[in-house]
Amino acid sequence: MPANTPFTVTPYSVEGRIDYQQLLEEFGADELTDEQRKRFPGPGHPLVRRQIFYAHRELDRILDAVAAGEQHALVTGRGPSGPMHIGHIIPFYFARYLQQHAGTDVYIPLSDDEKYLLKEQSPASISEHTRANLLDILAVGFDPERTRIVVDSADADVVYPIATVLSKEITQATVDATYGDPPNVGLSFYPAIQATHLLLPQFVDGRQPTLVPIAVDQDPHVRVCRDVAAKERYDVEKPGALLSKFLPGLGGPGKMSSSDDLPSILLSDDRETVHEKIQRHAYSGGRTSVTEHRKKGGNPEIDVAYLLLYYFFEDDDETVERIASEYRNGSLLSGELKARAAEKVADFLERHQQRRHALGLLTDELEAYRLTPEERTRALGRAGYPERSLCRTT
Ligand code: TRP
Repeated sequence: MPANTPFTVTPYSVEGRIDYQQLLEEFGADELTDEQRKRFPGPGHPLVRRQIFYAHRELDRILDAVAAGEQHALVTGRGPSGPMHIGHIIPFYFARYLQQHAGTDVYIPLSDDEKYLLKEQSPASISEHTRANLLDILAVGFDPERTRIVVDSADADVVYPIATVLSKEITQATVDATYGDPPNVGLSFYPAIQATHLLLPQFVDGRQPTLVPIAVDQDPHVRVCRDVAAKERYDVEKPGALLSKFLPGLGGPGKMSSSDDLPSILLSDDRETVHEKIQRHAYSGGRTSVTEHRKKGGNPEIDVAYLLLYYFFEDDDETVERIASEYRNGSLLSGELKARAAEKVADFLERHQQRRHALGLLTDELEAYRLTPEERTRALGRAGYPERSLCRTT
């Protein structure tokens, strides 16, 4: 494809071949530096080391807080429009890594309202997905002391009043310019809801550095929120962002979308299904015949099986390097590489599913992760709602 082929990246549509560098210029974000990469706590994380998280806004605020052992938060959410696939859960595992190594407070909003407004689905269907997605998120294994899960419709007592206050700072012109003309007034308002999500740790627990790790398509939400946060009416700082490229779909590099024709690897897939999906559908950077492959070698950079290992499923840098070079020199065949990737993905899913099955009733499990009455009162108070208002906080 020639350079400068048109592409669009907004929260509601991702099309064309994405030029990640050009996006940074358009969005005004910065590339991650080696020095920043090295400052991640513990053993680091493959998503950071391998530059899947490739850009940021004000990341140093959070890295400084991590280094100093100061309070800081992370917000990563989910739009519950269907079953979750491996691309959906990866940010949550990243959040857990940070929580384990830096004591990060993790906030997880579920935007069931957004997905109802965006998709052709009944509230009941979105609600089913919300429940199933929550079990998957709980299976990741967050520390309930340091994690809050918020569902827009179920926690409307907090979310809605704060969103109302924030929405007054967001003009329709801004929404149109940032997202393209929204198809209905609900989605016009939604940026105020997502801004609420991103500022919630600070409304609940006071001013603190907050990191939002997201794929680049969600960056417009961060920009809108940062503008609102800058108004100085509230005692909050602008949330920082850690921006990632998209996990490749089975069809090749690009966004792993649940809606194109090829299947995604679902969190509920068993080992056999994972093998079948990868062997049959994963785009291969190998040659058409074994003889040719042995002679000329394959191209790992566009090979989905390799990319799965590289992006997330093979922790060890040397192993990943060795696989790449064996593939390039032709000693590792495409089918062998696929089998290897499938094993790793299936191992990961097996552990995830075991934790999911060990969970009890959703409502019981969720309880420890919900905002407490005091936290609700505090959040509303910081947004300017007096304690004795009619907002129900129990
Ligand atoms: N809008 C996101 C999506 O469509 C989901 C989401 C809601 C989110 N709130 C968030 C993501 C806060 C990151 C941070 O997938």
